[in-house]
Order: sequence, then C-alpha cells, then structure tokens
Amino acid sequence: MSVTVVQAAYVVAAVLFVLSLAGLSKHETARRGNAFGIVGMAIALAATIWLAAERAADPELTLALIAAAMLVGAGIGLWRARVVEMTGVPQLIAMLHSFVGIAAVLIGYNAYLAPGALPSSEETFHLVEVFFGVLIGAVTFTGSVVAALKLSGRISANPLVLPHRHLLNLVALLASAGLMVWFVLTHTAMPLVLMTAVALALGWHMVAAIGGGDMPIVVSMLNSYSGWAAAAAGFLLGNDLLIVTGALVGSSGAILSYLMCQGMNRSFVSVIAGGFGTEGTTFEGDGTDYGDYRESNAAEVAELLRHAQSVVITPGYGMAVARAQYPVAELTACLRARGAQVRFGIHPVAGRLPGHMNVLLAEARVPYDVVLSMEEINDDLPQTDVVLVIGANDTVNPAAIDQPGSPIAGMPVLEVWKARDVVVLKRSMASGYAGVPNPLFYKDNSRMLFGDAKETVEALVKLVRP
Ligand code: TAP
Repeated sequence: MSVTVVQAAYVVAAVLFVLSLAGLSKHETARRGNAFGIVGMAIALAATIWLAAERAADPELTLALIAAAMLVGAGIGLWRARVVEMTGVPQLIAMLHSFVGIAAVLIGYNAYLAPGALPSSEETFHLVEVFFGVLIGAVTFTGSVVAALKLSGRISANPLVLPHRHLLNLVALLASAGLMVWFVLTHTAMPLVLMTAVALALGWHMVAAIGGGDMPIVVSMLNSYSGWAAAAAGFLLGNDLLIVTGALVGSSGAILSYLMCQGMNRSFVSVIAGGFGTEGTTFEGDGTDYGDYRESNAAEVAELLRHAQSVVITPGYGMAVARAQYPVAELTACLRARGAQVRFGIHPVAGRLPGHMNVLLAEARVPYDVVLSMEEINDDLPQTDVVLVIGANDTVNPAAIDQPGSPIAGMPVLEVWKARDVVVLKRSMASGYAGVPNPLFYKDNSRMLFGDAKETVEALVKLVRP
C-alpha cells in the first residue's frame, strides 16, 4: 500500500465518521451510524498501522509492538464494555476522555523531545503546536478524571468553591500565555513543564467547581475538549485523519454542549470558563423547614391509579438503578387496558446519560408515541389526574423555578406538582444528584411511596391488573 492509498483510506474513513455522526442523531438510524463508525475506525486503524510499519526502521518490531499494545488495550476495552452497568457508562466515558487528554500530553512531550522523528514544520509554529497540544490535553485529563470521580460518587458532586475562583482560572490562563512566550523564545523545557502543572490544576479546578446538576453539560464539554486534544495530537503527528476526526468530535461536542446549555438555561460562555453553578455552598432554601410529608402505601396508590383517567410517569435515575423499566412497562399496559391515558414525560437530563430514559423505555418496549419530552408534556400536567415520579428528583424539583438562590435555579423542570395528585416513588427523603432538597415532597397534593422502584412498581402491577 502506498502513501496515496493510505491517504485515500483516510478520506473514506473520514466520510464514514461524518455518516456515523449523522446516523447517531436519530433513534431510527443510530444502529447504522454505529456501524459506519466501526467500519471507519477499522479502515483508519489498518491504514495507520500500515503507514507506521512502512516508515519504521524495523517494521517487524514496530508491528509486534503495535499488536501487543492493541491486544492489551482491546482486552481491557472489551472487558469493561461487557461488565459496565448502563448507569456506569457516563463515568466510563469521562475516563476515556481522560485517556485522550493524557495521550495528547505525551504526544506533545514526544514531539518536543524528539522533533526530528516527526514531520518537521517551521520551528516556532511547531513549538506553539506542542504547547497547545499539551495545554488542552492536560486540562482535558484532570477535568475528565474529576468528572469520572464525581459521576461515580467517589467524590462529592457538590461544587468546590475556592475564594476568588474565577480570578484563579484567569491567572492560570494568563500564566500559560506568559509561559508560552518564554517557551517559544527559549525553546527550554522549564516553561512547558510549568504550564503542564498549571493546566493540570486548571482542569481539576474548572470541573471541581461545577455542581452536580450541571455535570451533563460538563461531560459533553469535556467530550469536545478531548476532540480538540486529539486534533492537536494530529497536527503534531502530521496525521490528517486525526486532525479531521478530532475536529469532528470537538465541534460536535461543542454543538451538543451549546444545545444542552440552551435546554438547561445556562450560559455557554460560563460553561467554557468552568464557572457556572453556585457562587456559594449555601443557598436560599438550604435548611428550610418545608413541613410534613405524606407517606402512602401501594394499596392507596393503586386505588388512585384505578380511578385515574390520565396518568403521566416521569422516570429518573432511580428507575435505571432499580432496573424498574420492565414492571413500569407492564404497569403502563395494565393502566391502558383499564382505559386510562398513560404517557411519559422525559426530562433532557433525567438519569445519567443523554437519552438514558428513552433507551430504557425502548428496551422494555414502551411504545414510542407515549414517550414525550418535557416541553411536550409540561402544558398537559395541570389536566393530569396522577403523576408517578419514579426515581426522579432534581428533574422534578420546583426549587429550580421558585428559589433563585438554588444551585439548580433556572433549569427547566417537569412541573409535576401542577397535576391533581403526585406520587413519588423512592427509597427515602434523600436529595438527588445535585444535592438540593426537594420541596415537591412536602406539597399538599404529593405523597411518598417508599421502597425500591422495581419492587414498588411490581406491587402496583399486581394491584391494578384488570
Ligand atoms: P436524581 O436527581 O439523580 O435522583 C434520583 C433519585 O432516585 C434519588 O433521589 C434516589 O432517592 C432515587 N433512587 C435511587 N435508587 C433508587 C431505587 N433503587 N429505587 C427507587 N428510587 C431510587 O435523578 P434525576 O431526576 O433523573 O436527575 C438526574 C440528575 O443527574 C440531574 O441532576 C442531572 O443534572 C444529573 N446528571 C445527568 C446526566 C445526564 S446527561 N442525564 C449526566 C450526569 C449527571 P433515594 O435514595 O431516596 O431512593
């Protein structure tokens, strides 16, 4: 295979990646999108390995080393993909982003220490490339590690609020700019090493400062950063496909983040600056006594459901961890068989993944046409007899609307409290991922049905089966 054939293979792979992204944008075409991505990646890998062997002084050794690295990587990847729970995917993705970040840092150092081994470009330009590659990679690396730790619950999801935190970020950026000038003028390693330390701390701080409720946007932002880190690595390696693929991931991640910011009523600029969320750890409503809540039982809720004409189910993360989607689908079928109108209201960040609830409900064969988005269902909630909140919390929290100091203030939520009756299925009075108390539980028309969501819904199914 000549270099021209490799370039042609890269073009084909790039086109397949574009088709893959287009396919992944809709449920119906997502499988095809995945297939395009897999084929594109296989072509890209084969062409890159061929090129590496052709350029190497000892092709056999190079191929053996690549094969060994691929065996280890593919083995770990296959094992993780097989054992990971659906609810653990976000932290896995965040961890994978961190690998892209650290790879960009290592490639940057490699390009600096052994520039002769890489395609030569103009010296100053090359140093700037190295600097940016390491900077973006280091920020992506620690930012993604913190995101993974927060998402897996190993560290608190609460925002870290250091004094003058925005100023700290600004100083880090200004210091990096100064270090770049020093690096380009002197070509010495010291400014590169200092900037790496600053960028690692910046990535850590930017993500640590963001509260739990805003993590979905951060994850998609880090996805975008990892794309730019890969593109920077592509420049350093002189690999056009890596540049194109990195730019595709970077820009699609940025577009997704922008759309999520619009959906969540957040400012895009402040996300990039890593500074949105809370200004303090306390907020209006913190420690507020909301009064008493009403505890219910399965028999009482079944009675409510048997007499309801319209029922809306708003699932959340708790439905996913309890794997309650199958009994929920059965409950839906039972209530529909009784003549009730049953629909689902899905918040854009319910669960821990974009589209998390839609995937679970589709898996349990809930018909697509009764699964509505938050915007579609909100106006109908005042005319709804019963809302079943199944393992959702932040996404149905009225504090987002009526407590301006709340960390989730401004985030659109499912306005379930406007229905005639609201039943909240969860195990305790604990708050949701954002750590914000939920006044919904104390409203006059709310009642709590405690227990594991799967067991509770199974009990309800037995009681309402026609
Ligand atoms: P959450 O606010 O996370 O609340 C889930 C609730 O489920 C908890 O309050 C918990 O209460 C309950 N629960 C847990 N296990 C349960 C079980 N076995 N049975 C019954 N209930 C159970 O859920 P949400 O409303 O879906 O909101 C999602 C949150 O995650 C948002 O803050 C969002 O920003 C964040 N987030 C979302 C994403 C994406 S992209 N979707 C990514 C990262 C973070 P108990 O402990 O009392 O049972």
